[in-house]
Formats: sequence, structure tokens, C-alpha cells
Amino acid sequence: MALYSEKVMDHFRNPRNVGVIEDADGVGEVGNAKCGDIMKIYLKIEDGIIADVKFETFGCASAIASSSMATELIKGKPLSEATELTNKAVAEALDGLPAHKLHCSVLAEEAIQAALEDYYAKHPEAGGK
Ligand code: FES
Repeated sequence: MALYSEKVMDHFRNPRNVGVIEDADGVGEVGNAKCGDIMKIYLKIEDGIIADVKFETFGCASAIASSSMATELIKGKPLSEATELTNKAVAEALDGLPAHKLHCSVLAEEAIQAALEDYYAKHPEAGGK
């Protein structure tokens, strides 16, 4: 069996939603101290919906594929669904990651949660979790 699924390779080679949102409503940046990889997520939120999401990831192939898949999973979704996104859901959507690469999908979950927290901190009227 190949180390990486077709989906991981696809999202690594053609990552979706790469970039920056200049006037983002929420920004989250997280890093993994062990591997040194960094992930940044930008959210544009309209009427409680993730209207747009972009990412910048300085990291391994799995981290890039995880960011790409995670942004696809939350784009167009209500905030309540985005807050529930787990690294497990990201890894499953990628048809799995090797065990020693699961932490890369954790980075995606954490970056999205950090961006949502930033949004809620700036928009207390939006409620939060
Ligand atoms: Fe650290 Fe992938 S090796 S995020």
C-alpha cells in the first residue's frame, strides 16, 4: 500500500484555497514545536457562514493536504459546523494519513479553531461556543 492516499497526493499537488484574505474576520496561526511546521488560516464570515477561507502552510505534504481539505470541509458551512471540525474528520476525508502524520491534521483543526476564536474575540455579539 502506498504511504499516502490519492487524495492526500491530490491535495498536496493541487491545494485548494491557498492564500491570504486581506480583510479577514478571523485569523489563526498555530505551529508544531516538534516538526517546526506552521499553519495560518484566514476566515471571511458573513451571516454566520464561512463565506471564504484561505490558508498558508509552511510545512510537510500532509500538513498542506490537511489544510487544503480542512478549508474545503468548512467553506460555505455555518460557524457551528466549523467549530466542530476535528482532525479525525480531516484525516478521514483524505482517506487516512499514516499514523506518524496524524499530528499534521491536528494542526489544521487547531488553526481553524484559533481563527474562529479570533473571530469570536473580535465579534462578541456572534456568541462563541
Ligand atoms: Fe509536522 Fe506534518 S510533519 S505538520
